Amino acid sequence: MDFTTFITKIASRRKSGILRSYAKKFAEHKNAISLANGMPNATTFPFEEISVTYKGGTKIKLTGEELSSSLQYAPSQGYLPLLKKMREFQEHWYKPIYNEWDIVLTCGSMEGCSKVLEMILENGDPMMAQVPTYDGILGALIPLEPEFIGIEQDEDGIIPANIAKVCEERRCSDKPMPKILYVNPTGGNPTGTVLTDSRRRQIYELAETYNFLILEDDPYSFVHFLEKAPTTFLELDTKGRVIRLDSISKVISAGLRLGVITAHKEIIKKLTAHMETTSIHPSSLSQMLLYKLLNTWSVDKLQKHFNDVQRFYRSRRDVMLSLTEKHLTGLAEWNVPKGGMFVWMKVNKVKDVMELADKECISQGIFVIPGHAFNYDRSKPEQHIRLSYSYATPEEIDKALSILAKLIREEIKKLD
Ligand SMILES: Cc1ncc(COP(=O)(O)O)c(C=O)c1O
Repeated sequence: MDFTTFITKIASRRKSGILRSYAKKFAEHKNAISLANGMPNATTFPFEEISVTYKGGTKIKLTGEELSSSLQYAPSQGYLPLLKKMREFQEHWYKPIYNEWDIVLTCGSMEGCSKVLEMILENGDPMMAQVPTYDGILGALIPLEPEFIGIEQDEDGIIPANIAKVCEERRCSDKPMPKILYVNPTGGNPTGTVLTDSRRRQIYELAETYNFLILEDDPYSFVHFLEKAPTTFLELDTKGRVIRLDSISKVISAGLRLGVITAHKEIIKKLTAHMETTSIHPSSLSQMLLYKLLNTWSVDKLQKHFNDVQRFYRSRRDVMLSLTEKHLTGLAEWNVPKGGMFVWMKVNKVKDVMELADKECISQGIFVIPGHAFNYDRSKPEQHIRLSYSYATPEEIDKALSILAKLIREEIKKLD
């Protein structure tokens, strides 16, 4: 099957609703008289005005037309002025090479991933994912019952040779080929890895050779600690093989619940149809607040803000690393996170950390996440724990890691 037919065939079950298509037409023809409009009348809503002050002092006031748009249904693809702005941003940051791309707004990257996976995977379909995997994705996959093929990572992210091996073996034994690869390339959750540019290029070539899609879940793309931003899969994409998820959660607000999917326009059409019959669209007020922010802050100001966020997490990471060295040298092993918010730590000698993380740590007043959370099969024994440096203060990290070290020593003693 050629690639364009493949893209067009995906999720052919999803159809656009007639009512929602009128909502979109209506939003585009503001002066038309509509007897089709079944939306609630926004003048009945109990809001007079919404005022917001952004950091730096910019104030906005939502009244009249903007207030009713913020409180009203919107087109499922997204609030039109924000869609325009976000398309400009995607052009600015990623400069997609092929023309047939488009975007749809989602309630964050998790919702986007879940909809993409639901759209593409039928029961039993083979799919590849970087392991360990963000547990939200695992949760979205489990009811879809795909054939889950884990692709391991090292300190440079997922290993292309492992993808090639899986695909080649399947091709030679006439097994169905994986439809999609899930990858969380920058500041991977839970590993903190950043996939190197050369690996990204190799993986894109493998996707061409073995005809799979790439689901690029990249909510930490602006939270990396490298000199130069990594090249995204979207930038490498020449024909619409990449489905890219951006999110404002890590750099603007997690609670506004907004993300953007950028993909081939046929895929975006199907995803928009899916939005119509599920969340309908992300919060109009959130979309308005983001639109206003992007409209008042220049790209340079936004970039400066992202740089500040990077500096914040980098200094937190450095504190965590120096205290980890102080307390856990010899007891555990870890990589230096190149992005994101987590240290992925292998506890030496302890074959399964569940008891340690779930009982001992909690009883001593500290919380860490046992690595089981990031395995498709959660019952498998795990030696890793995930530590976050996002919220804890240096004093708290110091105290928590000294307790953790004591508990690991006790666990090891039990084994002797
Ligand atoms: C890898 C990964 N994907 C998706 C999400 C969810 O992001 P959002 O808030 O945009 O839904 C997270 C949040 O922790 C994450 O770590």
